[in-house]
Amino acid sequence: MLILGIESSCDETSVAVVEDGRNVLSNVVATQIAEHRLYGGVVPEIASRRHIENIGTVTQDALDQAEVRIDDLDAVAVTYAPGLIGALLAGVSFAKGFCYTAKKPLVAVHHLRGHIASLYLSNQDLRPPFVSLVVSGGHSHVILVRDYTVFEVLGRAVDDAAGEAFDKVARTLGLPYPGGPEISRLAAMGDPTRYVLPTPHVAGQYDVSFSGLKTAVLNIVNTASMRGEELQKADLAAAFEQKVTEILARRLVDAAMEFNLPAGICGGVSVNGVLQEKCKTLCIRHGVPLYLPQKSLCGDNGAMIAAAGYYEFLSGNRAPINLNAYATMDITMH
Ligand code: KG4
Ligand code: ZN
Repeated sequence: MLILGIESSCDETSVAVVEDGRNVLSNVVATQIAEHRLYGGVVPEIASRRHIENIGTVTQDALDQAEVRIDDLDAVAVTYAPGLIGALLAGVSFAKGFCYTAKKPLVAVHHLRGHIASLYLSNQDLRPPFVSLVVSGGHSHVILVRDYTVFEVLGRAVDDAAGEAFDKVARTLGLPYPGGPEISRLAAMGDPTRYVLPTPHVAGQYDVSFSGLKTAVLNIVNTASMRGEELQKADLAAAFEQKVTEILARRLVDAAMEFNLPAGICGGVSVNGVLQEKCKTLCIRHGVPLYLPQKSLCGDNGAMIAAAGYYEFLSGNRAPINLNAYATMDITMH
């Protein structure tokens, strides 16, 4: 079965063709990062406009690279929530028009279900149930994947998401957007023990909170500047990265052990090398099998939407022609 997957929830316009939810035939990504970097973050209106401009050619490229004709497609899957509303509407409107003229079924996909499905594309043996850490710009969830389309949220960020915290701390350190890769690069040269950051406390066993850490970094930066001391940026970046990844890895492995299930990590932040290493070490120590996504599938992409769409399609998900987009939506909703 061939599914065309369309993703436009943030700053990547991406379209892919995936066979049977597991085999990527093409995955074209047009990123807008360079343009948003000029403003220090994603500018929603610019994102919407670029999606509208790019989506036609990205779709054509995805079909061409897969050597697939529109007629060969079995369905179209599109991200309809959560994300920037104007950006989502660009993809949803295009997908509806496409399906209307091509007479193809439309499948509405939740963005985080897409990130989880990136694990199926990267690990052919992975089947639910398992526990997944979903860490992106807007989310830090620990999710129990009971089945391909059945999810339970075990924990979430009570304030800033992991990626958001990386991006904000990067800005405090004068690094460009997106902050995750920048912090990571700088941290690799730093000593994580020079600065001591607090360990945030949260009520929920699998919840996380990063806004206190962000404030602690800001205080260190301000104090250094007031005292006229030189800030050791690489050391501070390393301390921050260590702390965030330690918290995330611990939550994931605790949950996997409680449910006696394998663990997975996905989402834009899951490409982080320190996070991957910490998850590997803890999983080996506790005998938990660990599944990682391929690097190219960590960030937003159409292939993960097509993969999730395949399983949604099999479970009977068909979107109506009046499908809307939603800026927020729980992963358990549909
Ligand atoms: O999943 P994603 O591409 O988009 C959303 O759905 O939000 O995630 C983007 C986030 C950004 O906050 C970015 O800073 C973060 O992923 N990120 C990283 C790394 N690469 C990207 N965070 C930490 N370390 C990285 N190497
Ligand atoms: Zn994402």
